[in-house]
Amino acid sequence: MKYLVLSLALAAGMLVSCSGTQESTEMVQNETLENLKTRRAIRSYTDSVPPKELIRKITEAGTYAPTGMGRQSPIIVAVTDKSVRDRISRMNAAVMGSDSDPFYGAPVVLVVLADKDCPTYLYDGSLVMGNLLNAAHAVGLGSCWIHRAKEVFESEEGKALLKEWGIEGNYEGIGNCIIGYAAETPAPKPRKPDYVRYIE
Ligand SMILES: Cc1cc2nc3c(=O)[nH]c(=O)nc-3n(C[C@H](O)[C@H](O)[C@H](O)COP(=O)(O)O)c2cc1C
Repeated sequence: MKYLVLSLALAAGMLVSCSGTQESTEMVQNETLENLKTRRAIRSYTDSVPPKELIRKITEAGTYAPTGMGRQSPIIVAVTDKSVRDRISRMNAAVMGSDSDPFYGAPVVLVVLADKDCPTYLYDGSLVMGNLLNAAHAVGLGSCWIHRAKEVFESEEGKALLKEWGIEGNYEGIGNCIIGYAAETPAPKPRKPDYVRYIE
């Protein structure tokens, strides 16, 4: 009888989870998974400045990203001061030989740096960036990874800025997570058909 019930449950498309609860595959509607799918790179922002409390929630999520051997090699510099934000925007643009705002008018920049003495620093910092981007979306804010943090903080001006901020050590810029209220949200590109290869 026990086997008959189990077979019927499986035939009806039921899943048996680790915790022993049973859920239909169609019923697996998960807010976190939805958030991961619907986050987009935002390149147009309103003038509104997000409250510090939301920025704290996002940075906190960043600090819970996994890191190699739990060494927590990255640091996050949360820039909400407009003059500093404008300065690092100018430095970032200069790397490209441009004078446009590579931060697309976003009012907040979360700079992720990671300690190069740690062999996993690049992976660690990238995962922090991922958490920040997804956390921003989860609290209703737009975000985008803006590159060239490496070049910016390798420059003399960048090194001086780190010193000003009291950051000492062998840090490399990993990325800038810009944050603000999205003025426009683009549609995602279709995923390439061979993105996932199942070996079953
Ligand atoms: C390593 C990395 C560097 C990126 N650098 C930039 C950048 O400098 N400027 C920019 O507008 N977007 C940048 N992006 C955002 C990507 O262009 C964007 O994630 C991609 O087009 C996919 O769009 P989606 O995030 O909406 O899925 C970067 C993303 C990554 C992961």
